[in-house]
Amino acid sequence: RDKSTVSVTVVGASGDLAKKKIFPALFALYYEGCLPEHFTVFGYARSKMTDAELRTMVSKTLTCRIDKRENCGEKMEEFLNRCFYHCGQYDSQEHFGELDKKLKEQEAGRVSNRLFYLSIPPNIFIDAVKCASLSASAANGWTRVIVEKPFGRDSESSAALTKALKQYLEEDQIFRIDHYLGKELVENLSVLRFSNLIFEPLWSRQYIRNVQLIFSEDFGTEGRGGYFDSYGIIRDIMQNHLLQILALFAMETPVSLDAEDIRNEKVKVLRSMRPLKLDDVVIGQYKSHTKGVVSYPAYTDDKTVSKDSRTPTFAAAALFIDNSRWDGVPFLMKAGKALHNRRAEIRVQFRHVPGNLYNRTFGTDLDQATNELVIRVQPDEAIYLKINNKVPGLGMRLDRSHLNLLYAARYSKEIPDAYERLLLDAIEGERRLFIRSDELDAAWSLFTPVLKEIEERKITPEYYPYGSRGPVGAHYLAARYNVRWGDLGLEQ
Ligand code: BG6
Repeated sequence: RDKSTVSVTVVGASGDLAKKKIFPALFALYYEGCLPEHFTVFGYARSKMTDAELRTMVSKTLTCRIDKRENCGEKMEEFLNRCFYHCGQYDSQEHFGELDKKLKEQEAGRVSNRLFYLSIPPNIFIDAVKCASLSASAANGWTRVIVEKPFGRDSESSAALTKALKQYLEEDQIFRIDHYLGKELVENLSVLRFSNLIFEPLWSRQYIRNVQLIFSEDFGTEGRGGYFDSYGIIRDIMQNHLLQILALFAMETPVSLDAEDIRNEKVKVLRSMRPLKLDDVVIGQYKSHTKGVVSYPAYTDDKTVSKDSRTPTFAAAALFIDNSRWDGVPFLMKAGKALHNRRAEIRVQFRHVPGNLYNRTFGTDLDQATNELVIRVQPDEAIYLKINNKVPGLGMRLDRSHLNLLYAARYSKEIPDAYERLLLDAIEGERRLFIRSDELDAAWSLFTPVLKEIEERKITPEYYPYGSRGPVGAHYLAARYNVRWGDLGLEQ
C-alpha cells in the first residue's frame, strides 16, 4: 500500500482562479483516479471560513464530464470531504505554522509531499513563499510551489523575483505555469512535428513563408482592468502564451522527451531570436461601440482603469529567428481583447509551388492559393491543411479544400482542461510543461526593450471599436512582410 501522502494547498483559495480552475481541475483528477490514495486539499486565505463553508464554495464550481455523469454526486461528496480550510495571513510564518500542524494531522505519520499553488497577487508571492517554505515545508517528502504569471513586468523585475524565490526554494521546486502549455493542441505540436514524416522535412525557411500566432477574445477586461492596466496585452498574452507556442513550434528536435532536453531546445531558439523592434509592433486599444440597441464599453470605461490609460488591449508584432532554419521567415503574432471572435490558432503559410504547372497550363490564378496548415487551439480544436483540389467534373477547375481533423468528430472524449494536466504533472514531478528560469529570462529579453520604448515614448494606441477585427495597422505590418493574415479569409 502507498505510504506517502500528497497535499495541495491552494493559497488564495477564495480567488477567481482557484474557484474557476484549480478546485475543478483537482476534482476532475480525483474523478479520473489520477490522484494518490492519501490525498488532501487545503484552501488557505485571509477570510474567515469553516471547512464546511469552503466545501460549499468549492462545490458550486465542480462539474463532471459529459460522459461521466453516473456517480458524479457521490464522487463530489468524497472529494469535498478531503477539502479543508485554514484562515491566515500570507506573510505570517505563525499562520503557516498552524497550517503545518493541520497538514500533519492529515498526513498521520506517512511520508509527506506538499504542493503549494500560489493563486495570489504577485506583490505577496515572496512573503507567501517564504512563510510556506520556512514553516510548512514537508518534513520528509517533496515540497513544490506552483506560481503563475505575472513573473515581473520586464527583465529586471523578473530576475529580481527569481532571485527572491531562490532564497527559499531550489529551481526544481518552482513550477512556473503557462497554462497554454497544458492545452491539448499545444502539447500535440511536438507529436505532429516529430512523429509524422510529412511535416518535419517542410518545417523551415525552404518551404514555410510565414507563421502566424493568433489570439483573440470577444470580450474586454470586464473588471480585471486593475491587473491588466499595469501589464497590457503584450505582457499578458504575447510574452508568455504566444511565445511559448512559438518556441515549441520552431525549436530543433530535442535529444529526448525529457523535460531538460525539451527546455534546452526552447531556450536555444528563444536566444536565437532578435529582440522585438518598435517598428515591428502595432498597438491598439478598444473603444466603445454601439450595435443596434446594445452598446459595448471602451477599455477606459472599466472602473478599474484610469481614464487616460494608454495600455494596449491589442498588439500585432513581427518576430524573427536568426538561425539557419528560420532565417528571414516572419513569425507574426496578433493578440487582442474585445475583438469579433474568440480564437487561438497557429497558421503556417507555405511557399508557392515553383513553376506551378496549373498556372502555366490553365492560367488559373493560384497566386493566393498556397498551402496553409492551421492548428486551432480553441475553440473547436482542429488541425487542417488547405490544399488545392480539382472540382469534380469534366472541366478543369481547382478550388481550395481542407484535409480536416476536427477533434469533436474524431475523438469522443472531452478534452481535459489545461489546469488538470499541469496540476497532475506538478504532483508527479514532471517539469516538461513548466517554464525554467533561463527560458523566462530569454523571453523577457525579447520584449523588454520595446515595452520600455512604448512606455517611455508614451506611444498612443490605435483605437478600434469593441467587437471589430482590430486596428488596420496590423494589416500594414503584415503587408510590409508580404503577408496576409490567414484568419481574415471567408472560410477560416
Ligand atoms: C490569461 C490572461 O493568461 O489567459 C487572460 O491573463 C486571458 O487575459 C486568458 O483571458 C485566456 O485563457 P484561455 O485559456 O481562456 O484562452
